[in-house]
Amino acid sequence: MWTSLSTVTEPTSPRGRSGGARTRFWVLAVGISVGLFLLGFLIGWLANRHADQLPRTDVHEKMKEAFMKEMKAESIKQILYNFTRQPHLAGTQENLCLAEQIQAEWKAFGLDSVQLAPYDVLLSYPNETNPNYISIIDEHGQEIFNTSLSEPVPAGYETVEDVVPPYSAFSAQGEPEGDLVYVNYGSIEDFHRLEREMGINCSGKIVIVRYGKIFRGNKVKNAYLAGAKGIILYSDPADSCAPGVQPYPDGWNLPGGGAQRGNVLILDGAGDPLTPGYPAKEYAYRLEEGQAHLNIPVHPIGYHDAEKLLKEMGGAPAPDDSWKGQLSVPYNVGPGFTGSSSKRKVRMHIYSFKQVRRIYNVIGTLRGATEPDRYVILGGHRDSWVFGGIDPQSGAAVVHEIVRSFGKLKQKGWRPRRTVIFASWDAEEFGLIGSTEWAEENVKLLQQRGVAYINADSSIEGNYTLRVDCTPLMHSLVYNLTKEIPSPDEGYEGKSLFESWNEKSPSTEHKGFPRINKLGSGNDFEVFFQRLGIASGRARYTKNFKVDKFSSYPVYHSVYETYEIVEKFYDPTFKNHLAVAQVRGGLVFELANEVILPFNCRDYAMALNSYVGILYNITMKHRVAMEAYNVSLDLLLDSIKTFSEVANDFHSRLKLLDINNPIKVRSWNDQLMFLERAFIDPLGLPGRPFYRHIIFAPNSHNKYAGVSFPGIYDALFDIDNKAEQQKAWEEVKRQISIAAFTVTAAAGTLKETL
Ligand SMILES: *[C@@H]1O[C@H](CO)[C@@H](O)[C@H](O)[C@H]1NC(C)=O
Ligand SMILES: *[C@@H]1O[C@H](CO)[C@@H](O)[C@H](O)[C@H]1NC(C)=O
Ligand SMILES: *[C@@H]1O[C@H](CO)[C@@H](O)[C@H](O)[C@H]1NC(C)=O
Ligand SMILES: *[C@@H]1O[C@H](CO)[C@@H](O)[C@H](O)[C@H]1NC(C)=O
Ligand SMILES: *[C@@H]1O[C@H](CO)[C@@H](O)[C@H](O)[C@H]1NC(C)=O
Ligand SMILES: *[C@@H]1O[C@H](CO)[C@@H](O)[C@H](O)[C@H]1NC(C)=O
Ligand SMILES: *[C@@H]1O[C@H](CO)[C@@H](O)[C@H](O)[C@H]1NC(C)=O
Ligand SMILES: *[C@@H]1O[C@H](CO)[C@@H](O)[C@H](O)[C@H]1NC(C)=O
Ligand SMILES: [Zn+2]
Repeated sequence: MWTSLSTVTEPTSPRGRSGGARTRFWVLAVGISVGLFLLGFLIGWLANRHADQLPRTDVHEKMKEAFMKEMKAESIKQILYNFTRQPHLAGTQENLCLAEQIQAEWKAFGLDSVQLAPYDVLLSYPNETNPNYISIIDEHGQEIFNTSLSEPVPAGYETVEDVVPPYSAFSAQGEPEGDLVYVNYGSIEDFHRLEREMGINCSGKIVIVRYGKIFRGNKVKNAYLAGAKGIILYSDPADSCAPGVQPYPDGWNLPGGGAQRGNVLILDGAGDPLTPGYPAKEYAYRLEEGQAHLNIPVHPIGYHDAEKLLKEMGGAPAPDDSWKGQLSVPYNVGPGFTGSSSKRKVRMHIYSFKQVRRIYNVIGTLRGATEPDRYVILGGHRDSWVFGGIDPQSGAAVVHEIVRSFGKLKQKGWRPRRTVIFASWDAEEFGLIGSTEWAEENVKLLQQRGVAYINADSSIEGNYTLRVDCTPLMHSLVYNLTKEIPSPDEGYEGKSLFESWNEKSPSTEHKGFPRINKLGSGNDFEVFFQRLGIASGRARYTKNFKVDKFSSYPVYHSVYETYEIVEKFYDPTFKNHLAVAQVRGGLVFELANEVILPFNCRDYAMALNSYVGILYNITMKHRVAMEAYNVSLDLLLDSIKTFSEVANDFHSRLKLLDINNPIKVRSWNDQLMFLERAFIDPLGLPGRPFYRHIIFAPNSHNKYAGVSFPGIYDALFDIDNKAEQQKAWEEVKRQISIAAFTVTAAAGTLKETL
């Protein structure tokens, strides 16, 4: 814990003793000191010989302690207040101003350089003079009900300009008219149910989908493929309210007039839709707009408006309770209305336009003293839909505090061993655009020099416990670090973050350790991890998944994400923010400073073993077909066995490394740094050229979630219903072979270099 060291070294006072006693005391004290000094010298000398005996010097520990103590809850609180006074929508003047403010402050904190990195990218906005809305029309075409044009603005913000109304960025324009079909969460399974079990055809219909469970872009894609001509996204209280909690401002639930903004892009990992693969600079070749998005109007509404649309629906009843939300409506599936409303239809009015605008990342660097050509990156976005109280400013404020604290250390004459790059990304909300364009521009440097990427979006989505998603390489580092950070939780005074986290969120397969998740996407680490193979991780405070059934957090992407909701309901003392700052900052500190990179390859082997277990369970359901088509996981199992042996051997030999030999140290560190890179397949996953990691990818049916062995997983998905069975199983075989090759080849990079 960060408080203990200073109290231990406090000298005991010899006050109140007689003169002779005092002399004896000093003789003894000096004797002990000299003894301890020699012992320390001996230990230091021994330690310097081998990597397993603390390469962490005193300076490292001292600076780490100073760094962790420098970060303050009160400071994070003030930064959050400052960052949430106005909307900071990407592509607007307000967000450029914040970029310039952050640039100036990071310079003042003492970074070596702080640059704006601009790109001209395709964004999407509502038309200010021609608002988006949805109507119920009667048999004469009269609009007898219209959804609201904006959310009621929270008290204190009435005079704020430029609050963008709820909309779906990158929706097509149009005025589709038709019968409604209710499609639950709009997942693949939901559409299969509709089509296969209920015989309902969405072709030419307007579908109404509830938010939750999966990324909204996947809902839109599924509805589009089902033939819908319009999509209404709505927040059901079942997914956007906690029981017994009041709507904001009296509590932290979503009010009935609130709605979730968000992009509905489905371009996997491309960044700017017009320049996939390449930076959106002046020399960029731009695609025609039409290729960039699905040609279908989409619009989000709140539950007050949704109730009006759902109330009169007729047709098939909900197939079961899993299709029912918490509105007082029947949740009939349709198509269309019933009773006296049966002649009524729904009309959408979508006039949002797309436009190329300039966005700005802020890139700050703190040059490494020993290995300036090795980069540890801390990045999080700055753009928000409106005030960004939680998303992203609760994270951006933490990044700001981390930069300030690194600056304090540098002012004392210290530098990290490796270069640290700090990034404030723009246009994350429009599809991870700022981070992706920057990575595209710097791809050659990142491939050669990128050690690790730590992501820093929202610091909180609840106040229950820590949540970490990261590469298996970082598991051990995360566990060790959280043992040194005090728990901010009530009832855990004097205990570590690791302890409270472990009690509240234990791992199911790894006894005695808290749960760590796979990386999916939906955030700025995507290009670094999924495309480039740079070891990545993210951490935040989260809700209690056992009881909290709402999706994300209730006011997500609404105008009610204010400073006040954080200060009143989520983290009044900002101690959870501080814990998250210490985790994110601590990770960056260790990755940038440890002589030997704090990666554990054995944990990757363990993870691969558990992932192949998941695959094994899936294939058990297809035993007959597996045999008939001669498909087995044996090749993959063999490769993982090899990987485990090589990883074990690597770490055994690493213990004997002479860490005073800089060439050796560099050579071993390169093996560690490039292990994640070794899982990259330059050809990418099938149909997803920017998702190239063979072990992990965003789920094809839910971008937010991660899946392991994605190539095999996708080949097996719904395989029984594929028309050409032989061909489908050949693809499974091919994917197993690619995975087995990749794991074996990655193991090859850890072997003795000769
Ligand atoms: C935020 O802080 C900066 C730096 O202290 C200051 O210049 C700026 O005026 C503050 N902005 C607001 C809106 O309070
Ligand atoms: C917004 O709508 C108005 C009225 O229909 C139209 O004249 C204008 O061109 C639109 N603006 C944009 C940027 O599409
Ligand atoms: C809905 O909006 C349209 C266009 O502004 C208007 O003509 C119509 O009267 C409105 N309907 C209701 C019920 O407000
Ligand atoms: C759904 O309806 C469309 C248009 O009416 C038709 O082309 C399509 O074949 C139908 N789909 C199914 C599965 O029946
Ligand atoms: C914060 O924690 C308390 C106590 O566990 C809980 O009742 C409350 O719902 C939490 N607040 C939020 C916003 O999650
Ligand atoms: C975590 O701590 C253990 C015990 O001190 C140590 O053996 C291990 O190397 C540490 N892991 C990392 C990645 O630093
Ligand atoms: C595989 O299934 C068995 C039996 O259902 C279960 O106990 C085990 O945890 C599963 N393994 C994985 C890795 O999912
Ligand atoms: C089945 O596949 C294995 C390798 O995966 C191969 O060695 C064997 O010959 C195949 N058997 C048949 C009957 O095709
Ligand atoms: Zn965000």
